[in-house]
Amino acid sequence: MEKITVLLGERSYPITIAAGLLKDPTAFWPLKAGENAMLVTNKTLDLLYSERLSNLLTATGVKLDQVILPDGERYKTLAVMDEVFTALLQKSHGRDTTLIALGGGVIGDLTGFAAASYQRGVRLIQVPTTLLSQVDSSVGGKTAVNHPLGKNMIGAFYQPSSVVIDTDCLCSLPPRELASGLAEVIKYGVILDGAFFNWLEENLDELLALDRKAIGWCIRRCCELKAQVVAADEHEYSQRSLLNLGHTFGHAIEVHMGYGKWLHGEAVAVGMVMAARTAERLGQFSNADTCRIIELLRRAGLPVQGPKSMEDEDYLLNMLRDKKVLAGNLRLVLPLALGRAEVRSSVTHDIIIAAINDCKKN
Ligand code: NAD
Ligand code: GLY
Repeated sequence: MEKITVLLGERSYPITIAAGLLKDPTAFWPLKAGENAMLVTNKTLDLLYSERLSNLLTATGVKLDQVILPDGERYKTLAVMDEVFTALLQKSHGRDTTLIALGGGVIGDLTGFAAASYQRGVRLIQVPTTLLSQVDSSVGGKTAVNHPLGKNMIGAFYQPSSVVIDTDCLCSLPPRELASGLAEVIKYGVILDGAFFNWLEENLDELLALDRKAIGWCIRRCCELKAQVVAADEHEYSQRSLLNLGHTFGHAIEVHMGYGKWLHGEAVAVGMVMAARTAERLGQFSNADTCRIIELLRRAGLPVQGPKSMEDEDYLLNMLRDKKVLAGNLRLVLPLALGRAEVRSSVTHDIIIAAINDCKKN
């Protein structure tokens, strides 16, 4: 079992990583016998894991209720979040309740925002079940729902009390979702850790085959990197922005195409290549390193070209709604080398469009 702590003073919390944690009653600290909790999950995960988890928790004396939401990015909305509040109120949950998010990033983000808002804040335990949520979204306290005009536009920073990662859950994950998570994994290598990028090049086949040792080490390394960044810059005033490599381009794709058509990781994969091409055009990143990123994404089964139907203006319009836009100025995360990146403002729209078009030839 691996344990990493996200160091945030009194709000510090553990990330526990191991195969089989959904069978371990001690893993769900700080939840105790006699306490109330609401398990929030979706229809898919309900069939796979919620019985196992609810049996485990009720056997330890937790008074557990459950709300099952529809499955999909298009349901990451205020209206669906309201179903969580209704369930909590119908079952008379008070401020001493705990919300348990069992699912991928959609359930995690929505439940996190519900926990931040219900009676002005109740305890939250994240139980991420996709690779993407295990390496990224369950850690760090970004919670949100989407708006038709922009992704993750309504939300709050709200840290969980604990993150419980059972790597066995990945065995039931569809290959397209595994690949989507690998995009965020590769992102860490590009922005923060060149040695990890090299390791990914050497071990990608093991990760795709869900080799236990490789996947355990990979999740641990990503969580360590994320915990360090969050501890240094919880509210994204500086360094945390780097975690958004590829996201400004990627969110434009997700919103333009319609939530759920392109998976988050697929859009981020293309976005990372667009960022790399932008950095190349600015003379700060080598073509050889862009080619290494493209090759690794391809091997992971990820796209490296944007949707054929998207025009230049479709990107710009949506990119200008990004949360990193300041005073109308686009701020892009761009790589400097494999393992190093920066936030750059005042990149001209012409360069951005040229870089997007470069990707048609990838
Ligand atoms: P998701 O939550 O939609 O899950 C993907 C699909 O896999 C769903 O159909 C889900 O039901 C299914 N699934 C989940 N676990 C499974 C399992 N173990 N076996 C079989 N099927 C399983 O998608 P995701 O990729 O986990 O998360 C994407 C979301 O995360 C996006 O909304 C994105 O904005 C958000 N996100 C948030 C952060 C953050 O810091 N909060 C970071 C990155 C991404
Ligand atoms: N996924 C980006 C962040 O947590 O900051």
